[in-house]
Amino acid sequence: MRPQIVAGNWKMNNDLDEGRQLAKSIKEHQDDIPSDVTVILAPPFIHLSDISREIMDSPLQLAAQNCATEEKGAFTGEVSASMIRSTGARYVIIGHSERRSYYNETDEIVHKKIQLALKHDLYPIVCVGESLTQRENDQYFSVVEAQLDNTVFKLSAEDFGRVVVAYEPVWAIGTGKTATPEQAQEMHAFIRKKIQENFSSDAAENTAILYGGSCKPANAAELFSQPDIDGGLIGGASLKPGDFVEITKSFT
Ligand code: PGA
Repeated sequence: MRPQIVAGNWKMNNDLDEGRQLAKSIKEHQDDIPSDVTVILAPPFIHLSDISREIMDSPLQLAAQNCATEEKGAFTGEVSASMIRSTGARYVIIGHSERRSYYNETDEIVHKKIQLALKHDLYPIVCVGESLTQRENDQYFSVVEAQLDNTVFKLSAEDFGRVVVAYEPVWAIGTGKTATPEQAQEMHAFIRKKIQENFSSDAAENTAILYGGSCKPANAAELFSQPDIDGGLIGGASLKPGDFVEITKSFT
């Protein structure tokens, strides 16, 4: 059985006190969160250690939002996968569309980061998704397939077994415009089929594929009830503890 996952991507929001308060509020609602849902918080790098301590004795998991393409050394301003792991984080989001579009991250860069994450015992949450123009031009399947081919499909089957995929249509991120459950399901089923073709039926069956893009309490249940949607990568709504916890309860 593949896991059900809700991950909160805080992006560049919250100072340290606000971040700790947010983590604390979510932790205080722990009893409301179904025990079979893996809940991951992804604060900015600089808060990782503090949030790690804040959630230490809870089932909440920690993720970074990015990692460096290099192991270590003279790369001013970068944060390596091993540094992330040393804070207690178990996951790292890689290839988010904001990284791809604002910081010119190519599939090649994404692939390097995934390899380093795996080497340092982190589970990569790898984001794929098409832009609005690509959707309107009916290129969405080919765009997502190429993103997968150039990154996670280059991994060994064993390494791929530790990957979480997040489908995030760029046009739905932070726009309030959610993919319909049918649009999301169609893409998730496509991604799962590609995993089966590239690896195996077992790999396809066991890989968690998350949806991201304006997911909120009002639409989470409908999205998560789709057979190939295994949870969500949540941006805006993850900053509101009540909304975020509500989303974790949206699996049927
Ligand atoms: P959003 O962001 O929920 O604010 O649309 C999702 C994401 O970027 O991961």
